[in-house]
Amino acid sequence: MSSDDDVVEPEVMGTPTYLEEFCKDYFPKREGQLTIIEVGTWKGASAFKMISACNNNCKVYCVDTWLGSLEHYDSIQRDSNGYPNIFGDFWTNVKRAGYEDIVVPVTLPSTIAAEYLQNKGIQADVIYIDAAHDYKNTLSDLEAFWPILKKESGSLFFGDDFHDDWFGVVGAVQEFGFKIGVRHSVNGKTWFFKV
Ligand SMILES: C[S@@+](CC[C@H](N)C(=O)[O-])C[C@H]1O[C@@H](n2cnc3c(N)ncnc32)[C@H](O)[C@@H]1O
Repeated sequence: MSSDDDVVEPEVMGTPTYLEEFCKDYFPKREGQLTIIEVGTWKGASAFKMISACNNNCKVYCVDTWLGSLEHYDSIQRDSNGYPNIFGDFWTNVKRAGYEDIVVPVTLPSTIAAEYLQNKGIQADVIYIDAAHDYKNTLSDLEAFWPILKKESGSLFFGDDFHDDWFGVVGAVQEFGFKIGVRHSVNGKTWFFKV
């Protein structure tokens, strides 16, 4: 685990540079704090961009096992016991940014996290999906988190990596849109459904 003095680079895993601009354009304009759920946080880069896009006026539930995705698990950094140690870097970044009162880590597998948040009565204004990238698990995430998006005009359900390199994401988003009867939209590599 990292000490507070370590310099940790949050800009990893290909977080799109245009994410903050996208959020400024597409986040719902509502009175008071936005409730955001991020599914797949890694070291915090995308969460930080969403926080910045709404001028820190939000609560962000960061859902991640911090154990890496299917495709990264073998190469993930580990502590001396062999246990993946991404969470330490993430929390160091949160503290350095001064976001401890904004960010709520939910250290559960995504579909269980959705159930946990639902049981707590949490409904989000914005949900960002960027955890699994294979078809089956992406579709599970979409199905698990859609019910806890506020169904009010302007709510945003969106995610990263809608392009040919991640055909599992593309297929899952298309299939999910078909199931809920709403066609997805795309801006760059960002897919989204707007209520
Ligand atoms: C692509 S990274 C997220 C990158 C981050 N959104 C960013 O742009 O900086 C994917 C993250 O999802 C997490 N993850 C993958 N599958 C998961 C699952 N089923 N449940 C919880 N977390 C998961 C991994 O641990 C990893 O940190």
